[in-house]
Amino acid sequence: MSGKLEHLFSPVTINSLHLKNRAVMPPMGTGYGNRDGTVSERLVRYLERRARGGVGLVITEVCAVDPRGKGFPAEIGAWSDDHIPGLAALAGAVHAAGSAIALQLHHAGRETMKDFAGALPEAPSDVPSVILNQPCEAMTVERIDEVVRAYAEAARRARDAGFDAVEIHGAHGYLVCQFLSPFSNKRTDAYGGSDENRARFAIEVLRAVRSSVGPDFPLIIRVSSDELVRGGYDLSYMKWLAPRLVEAGADALHVSLGVYSTPGGLTIASSDMEEGFNLFRAREIKEVVKVPVIGVGRITDPRTADAAIARGDADLISFGRQLLTDPDVLLKAHNGAYDDIRWCLGCNQGCIDRLNFEMRAVTCSINPDCGYEYLRTGEKADAPKNVWVIGAGPAGLSAAMEAAARGHRVTVFERDAEPGGQLVSASRPPHKDGLAKWTRWARRTAEKAGVELRYGTAVTEAMIASERPEAVILASGALPAVPPIPGIDGAIVHDARDVLTGKAEIKSPAVVLGAGYVGMETADFLMERGAAVSVLEMSAAPPVPAFTAHGYWLHRRLKKGGRLVLNARVCSIGAGEVVYELDGKERSEPAAMVVTALGAHSERVLEEACAGGGCPCIVVGDAIQPRRLIEAVHEGAKAGREI
Ligand SMILES: Cc1cc2nc3c(=O)[nH]c(=O)nc-3n(C[C@H](O)[C@H](O)[C@H](O)COP(=O)(O)OP(=O)(O)OC[C@H]3O[C@@H](n4cnc5c(N)ncnc54)[C@H](O)[C@@H]3O)c2cc1C
Ligand SMILES: Cc1cc2nc3c(=O)[nH]c(=O)nc-3n(C[C@H](O)[C@H](O)[C@H](O)COP(=O)(O)O)c2cc1C
Ligand code: SF4
Repeated sequence: MSGKLEHLFSPVTINSLHLKNRAVMPPMGTGYGNRDGTVSERLVRYLERRARGGVGLVITEVCAVDPRGKGFPAEIGAWSDDHIPGLAALAGAVHAAGSAIALQLHHAGRETMKDFAGALPEAPSDVPSVILNQPCEAMTVERIDEVVRAYAEAARRARDAGFDAVEIHGAHGYLVCQFLSPFSNKRTDAYGGSDENRARFAIEVLRAVRSSVGPDFPLIIRVSSDELVRGGYDLSYMKWLAPRLVEAGADALHVSLGVYSTPGGLTIASSDMEEGFNLFRAREIKEVVKVPVIGVGRITDPRTADAAIARGDADLISFGRQLLTDPDVLLKAHNGAYDDIRWCLGCNQGCIDRLNFEMRAVTCSINPDCGYEYLRTGEKADAPKNVWVIGAGPAGLSAAMEAAARGHRVTVFERDAEPGGQLVSASRPPHKDGLAKWTRWARRTAEKAGVELRYGTAVTEAMIASERPEAVILASGALPAVPPIPGIDGAIVHDARDVLTGKAEIKSPAVVLGAGYVGMETADFLMERGAAVSVLEMSAAPPVPAFTAHGYWLHRRLKKGGRLVLNARVCSIGAGEVVYELDGKERSEPAAMVVTALGAHSERVLEEACAGGGCPCIVVGDAIQPRRLIEAVHEGAKAGREI
């Protein structure tokens, strides 16, 4: 074993379950389930693929114990014996791929919508969810008893379906956590008020599950170690509670954090949080219990996990999004092949933001196979072609990797001296260096697959006309937009990409025009380098929403170190100032440098040349329309597969 990692790759036991290593895939909702709560082929193939990557224990996504506990329409369920065959197929596939599997038992409580739950959401008290703001109903004691029995029944079904363990979802502001929390539990009966009373529901669920599955069946409980909301419980409460959970039947504790309204989205942390930022909480819990503790939270690198186990922070480590991005991360680390790992960006774009804000099934921005395992055949092309890819941005590199994997002869032309396209500048703001890592990984992977990369070579119409490639993938991206503002061609005005790549010298005070991601991140970059920054934005609402994890931290840093002016219509740029209109009045902002972040326009002129030369051409990424990384990567890969 050249990767060592002997702590991570040592066996461990949870009750009667022997795990081959200490790497866990934590529960992650996908939206792949069938509407009736049964397991789909898509879900089976997706989890089977993660198991093939060598993880010791796979924990499924949330699985509703009662239809009224469903948190989203495609959530799987275990409230009926009709669910058992699908669950058994899932457990069987994961076992055959070499991992153990646990089912996560869930009731969303107030964190759902009437349409998903089929009735008014139910909760300890009729206090609506802060985020969803849906009316909800306080549970009667009879209903509490019924739901406790539903957990026990669902656990029995999991065992009958061949699962190795169950995990009670006691975290993230769902029903069990809602009972624990003074933030959501306002009851005055035996289930509310004191620390003991608020813990009663969790304890009853654990006891009921234990008596339903017997003494040997492993029972994990996931907890939020600290809610991190005003009026919620904190780590000291969880340290008091943890031994009581063990006494009630828990064989392991999975130490997560936060609830829906925790500022900064710390439950599914963005790249703004450092690797392993939550491990200290696992350690604190480990100090008060004797059962295994699972640590989680922005752990991507198996070396971090190994060191955490060695230090005694946790006994097992969960790799969540990293397993979406690269299901083989553990195998690669085990072999010491770190350069081959595709690292999770912590962007949330393709996974949780897509599920929560776009109501679409999960994938990964930079792994276009994630969630599509059931459709991928890996077949080679019948007739390999000479393929030209124009542009080595994310769309072009993704197209090239995929086309080469299918056996085509691929040449990528890039007019710049290096690959990456807009990612070269996008990787420079604070916490964005993951994009540079992705570019290095993509370049290496493409080269290993036999792709020829030609830098400093701009493809022209004449080249296409004379060489007539058999197929073209046009991934020529987008260039910055330059709106007709008087003075925009002045010496103090620079495009954000030039500022980020060091082509323009930083001067203070700096005025950034546009508060989209490019503007906000360039402001972040300038503030980190000591510049005084104002951001002027024409819209009334910030284009970067503060409800996403990264958006929250961008706004927070700007508030601390700079200024965002909304409703500001820029009129002109002069020597040392930007003149803008706000509330019908003209105002001036002093500026030693003005940075434009005012959008982009697509470059697709070569499409016509291809049509003229009779070359089949697929346009992908920002060349179609300026958008995001996920569209660039997924469209590029699709073109590479289909050419
Ligand atoms: C500062 C900044 C931050 C960003 N941050 C994010 C982010 O956090 N998340 C996100 O989702 N998106 C982000 N984006 C947007 C994202 O980078 C783009 O959506 C993505 O790069 C588009 O990829 P692409 O491959 O289609 O085009 P590009 O990245 O534009 O690449 C096109 C490439 O084609 C080359 N090219 C063009 N014409 C020719 C030719 N004739 N011959 C040879 N080569 C040619 C160009 O030189 C370029 O390298 C950011 C953009 C910027 C500028
Ligand atoms: C798309 C997505 C869905 C998630 N769904 C669940 C879930 O069903 N149950 C749960 O307990 N946690 C869920 N989580 C949280 C993860 O289990 C994990 O705690 C979190 O992603 C932090 O780990 P990571 O930084 O390694 O990704 C989800 C996370 C993501 C990204
Ligand atoms: S979408 Fe972003 S955060 Fe989610 S798994 Fe992929 S790289 Fe990681």
